[in-house]
Amino acid sequence: MMQKIIITIDGWSSCGKSTLAKQLAKELSYVYIDSGSMYRAITLYFLRYHIDWTDELQTKSALENIELTFQYNEKSKQSEIYLNGENVEYLIRDLVVAEKVSEVATISAVRDFAVAQQQRMGAAKGIVMDGRDIGTTVFPNAELKFFMTADNSIRVGRRFKEMFEKNPNITVEEVKANLEMRDYIDSNRAISPLRKASDAIELDNTHLSIEEQLTFALSIATERINFA
Ligand code: DC
Repeated sequence: MMQKIIITIDGWSSCGKSTLAKQLAKELSYVYIDSGSMYRAITLYFLRYHIDWTDELQTKSALENIELTFQYNEKSKQSEIYLNGENVEYLIRDLVVAEKVSEVATISAVRDFAVAQQQRMGAAKGIVMDGRDIGTTVFPNAELKFFMTADNSIRVGRRFKEMFEKNPNITVEEVKANLEMRDYIDSNRAISPLRKASDAIELDNTHLSIEEQLTFALSIATERINFA
């Protein structure tokens, strides 16, 4: 049987990480895990139950009541996240969550909780995971790491289009401000800041189509799998 590997995809917000990760997983018949969805689901829980995440004890005891699971949805053809048994895949994409998630993701108890689960999910390999610290902290020994970038204006445009479909009241300025804020917090936090792992392959998709990007990544993945 072909050896299975771990593929990590890190990068700035709205660079198309999840698009590539989903396609790669599908092509390789690997599991796809969106690590950002875990931080978003935790944030949703904290907002709902008015948890003060700057209070360590409160945060730790709240985390004990959180169970995150993933389930494949045959209809949408993607794996979706469940918070204590409730499908929150769509709720967590809301701007209310996006505005707080980077702050919540700076908290060490939150990161310990998420990283431990991510490592368990990747133990059997055959996984594509996207996020901010997957190649640096979660799977530093992954066989294949990508670090994605794209020009700012392209990223804002893509994310605006995506959010506008769900909420026509949203403005480009709001989306831009949120992206810039998240990139700043994500790359300046003390624990596991967003960094390109030294052995990651940089993928700037400013001038690449989704198909071109997949072709490029897939050819490298196939090569790595053959040599694993
Ligand atoms: O990928 P995303 O935009 O859904 O991620 C939401 C936030 O979660 C992101 O702004 C920072 C945090 N995050 C993180 O700190 N580490 C990860 N591995 C993934 C996401």
